[in-house]
Amino acid sequence: MYTIENPTSEKDIEDYFAFRWRWLRQPFGYPQGSEKDEYEGVSEHRVVKNLNGEILACGRVHLNTTEEAQIRHIAVHDDYRRKGIGQIMLAGLEQVARDLGAERAVTNSRESSINFFKHNGFRIIDDAPNELGKLKRKQMCKKLFDTNTLLMHPKWCRELQTTWHEQIPITEHMGIKLHQYTERTIETRASLNKNVNLHGTMFAGSIYSLATLTGWGMIFLQLKQKDLEGEIVLGEGSIQYHKPINKKPRAICNIESMNTKFELLKQGKKTPVSLTVEVLDNETSVAQFTGQYWVLPPKT
Ligand SMILES: CC(C)(COP(=O)(O)OP(=O)(O)OC[C@H]1O[C@@H](n2cnc3c(N)ncnc32)[C@H](O)[C@@H]1OP(=O)(O)O)[C@@H](O)C(=O)NCCC(=O)NCCS
Repeated sequence: MYTIENPTSEKDIEDYFAFRWRWLRQPFGYPQGSEKDEYEGVSEHRVVKNLNGEILACGRVHLNTTEEAQIRHIAVHDDYRRKGIGQIMLAGLEQVARDLGAERAVTNSRESSINFFKHNGFRIIDDAPNELGKLKRKQMCKKLFDTNTLLMHPKWCRELQTTWHEQIPITEHMGIKLHQYTERTIETRASLNKNVNLHGTMFAGSIYSLATLTGWGMIFLQLKQKDLEGEIVLGEGSIQYHKPINKKPRAICNIESMNTKFELLKQGKKTPVSLTVEVLDNETSVAQFTGQYWVLPPKT
């Protein structure tokens, strides 16, 4: 389970720059301090942390113009690469850019990260100045429409959204929408206005429904990805509420939290799937749901 945070305390900011230096400058023999530039004060900074509070990734975004956001300094801890954490970081920065009103994101990518950015919808538009005097780079760009937040498999994502609305009508009443799917992470959002209680915060039952549907959606999309079929039912669920929601309800499930053996389903057997969903208010973690689902093999 990961969270995206905005480092604000002195210690958090120090750790953030130390992480950036460790993974982007130290490997090339540059001293501490070289990781900073003149745009730090006008930038939005983010880190991805695990449940122990350790930083696993960092990244930064600032506006070049009112329409264009520049993404820089993305790095993932060496031990955690190719697990989708870079994608989580990038998606978080793109969302900040959208919230700032940007219509496109640009980045100067090192040759070694071009495939990562391509995988996330960026395309090369030009050569960019070398980094640290030696690393060749390309300027890459991505249009930031709301629709391209559904990064991967838009057909399955539309199918999931339709299934929810047709078979689970409460999703429509709650304004639940699939916001993003990256093969490893699903993010859903709900309307606060449609789920508000007497205190002006989100109704706890709606938070629970948002979390269970997010887990359900993750399994639905994973089954599609593995070309499997089955009926998904929730067997058991528990949720811990830590804080109220009064801004932007979001729920995220990462594949790392999922535990299952889809081989059982291939053998026509009922298959247990356990997973964790994190519920956030904007970027603050507010609740954690643990679910035990079952996938029932299709009736023949
Ligand atoms: C580039 C970087 C941020 C990617 O982070 P990551 O967490 O490993 O990336 P993800 O797991 O989210 O990768 C998503 C997809 O991008 C592509 N990708 C990522 N790294 C790749 C690599 N080294 N080679 C080829 N494709 C890559 C793959 O398609 C990957 O999906 P897959 O693992 O299912 O095949 C990370 O490798 C890093 O920190 N590199 C060093 C610092 C750096 O170069 N930063 C960029 C500065 S411009």
